[in-house]
Amino acid sequence: MSVAELNVDEKIGNVKDVLTEAQKKRGVLIHAFQSIQKEHNYLPEDVLNALGKKLNIPLSEVYSTASFYKHFYFKPRGRNVVCVCVGTACHVRGASKVLEKIEESFGIKEGETTADMAMTLETVGCVGCCGLAPVVTVNEEVVGDLNPKKVAEVIKMVEEK
Ligand code: FES
Repeated sequence: MSVAELNVDEKIGNVKDVLTEAQKKRGVLIHAFQSIQKEHNYLPEDVLNALGKKLNIPLSEVYSTASFYKHFYFKPRGRNVVCVCVGTACHVRGASKVLEKIEESFGIKEGETTADMAMTLETVGCVGCCGLAPVVTVNEEVVGDLNPKKVAEVIKMVEEK
């Protein structure tokens, strides 16, 4: 959905009856961010600017709302996202070595994306699979019990995607 097609009332349903116009506009921001990110894989500045203008919300407020949530991104992300868990359980079981190996293999550091946009490398505090530590996620897939061989398989899997 483009920003031009955004229908505020439709997105908030019956709640619209008890909200002021300003509240309705702010309330639709999160849904708009989700739609924008789904389409672009991140929140491009020009699109956020257009959204702010359409809703009559200052760009600074649009940014401050989006940046409150960790799952909205302001830079383009790769087609694949590899996320190394660096939580306590994974840390004590070698997460830093896993991260180092992946960084080395793709020539990027945590938080960066390869030049060909094939992969973004991120870290996370815990993915809730501590029993499988150390763990990485490749897009939606959890890969646990990592050892050097499995890390090599993860790297190969991402290279082939
Ligand atoms: S600390 Fe890594 S899954 Fe919990």
